[in-house]
Amino acid sequence: MPLLSLTQLLCPIDQKELRQDGNTWRCQNKHCFDVAKQGYVNLLPVQNKKSLDPGDSKEMIAARRDFLNSGVYQPIAVALAKTLAGLCKEHEQLSILDAGCGEGYYLNAVCEQLLLDDVELTATGLDISKWAVRSCKIRNPKLNGLVASNRQIPLPDHSQDIVLCTFGFPVFEEFKRILKPGGHIVMADPGPEHLIELRSQIYETVRRNPPADISTALIDDWQLSDSINVQFTTPPLSAEQFEQLLVMTPHLYRASREGRERAAKLQNMPVSGDVLIRVISHGYQA
Ligand SMILES: C[S@@+](CC[C@H](N)C(=O)[O-])C[C@H]1O[C@@H](n2cnc3c(N)ncnc32)[C@H](O)[C@@H]1O
Ligand SMILES: [Zn+2]
Repeated sequence: MPLLSLTQLLCPIDQKELRQDGNTWRCQNKHCFDVAKQGYVNLLPVQNKKSLDPGDSKEMIAARRDFLNSGVYQPIAVALAKTLAGLCKEHEQLSILDAGCGEGYYLNAVCEQLLLDDVELTATGLDISKWAVRSCKIRNPKLNGLVASNRQIPLPDHSQDIVLCTFGFPVFEEFKRILKPGGHIVMADPGPEHLIELRSQIYETVRRNPPADISTALIDDWQLSDSINVQFTTPPLSAEQFEQLLVMTPHLYRASREGRERAAKLQNMPVSGDVLIRVISHGYQA
């Protein structure tokens, strides 16, 4: 089964429908958005940008791509793929938006699994960082790529079956707007033991925070329908992999100078992965 191209987009300026005309998407009010040569569309209006180059930088995206490509977070990708496969048994057609897709490692892994299950997929990676979306398109040119914000997703109401949000910044109201009745939000967030060995090297006092609070999303017809703990130990990480982890995870980089110096000496040490996958479903009855 092929991955399908997006056919519907909304203009970020007036929310009118955009139509594709060759390499340009246009609305009835003549706002135009060109398809970049890598095949993504930038729908982030200048007035909505808080910085000239919002989101993760080119360096952060490259570090995350190299770290994830080494396969050490594969248990997370496998668990996400299994979770999504379980959600779409009855679908022959499925649309997935990865909101804050980064360089597309998880979206691509999930799609590879679903395509094995003969699902016809429209899969879209959206990120506020153009470097992320560019890298996602290079990873898999068949994924649709949108530069936009989770705060204003340029997709029509009730157009998606699943919104994936891994280690990201969920905007539940907006996710719910674009989901179809019976749709699902699939989230992956770090648990208290995630990277504990690294965090205990770089911080004087290590916090074991619970995963992000999602209670504000659990209202009306939206309920937590599944919750999966993914716990694993990585193979020993090289000095280069520790450096990539620090670059791709900016809060680790904000550690004290002593902390960073200790981290810079780390090598040949495994670390713990502790991730919670949660599924928030519309119309779910426990
Ligand atoms: C920690 S990374 C996670 C990336 C990817 N989901 C993953 O798990 O590898 C967070 C991502 O969210 C993006 N981001 C930050 N603010 C955003 C927003 N308002 N809308 C969409 N993406 C955003 C960043 O550019 C970055 O790529
Ligand atoms: Zn317009």
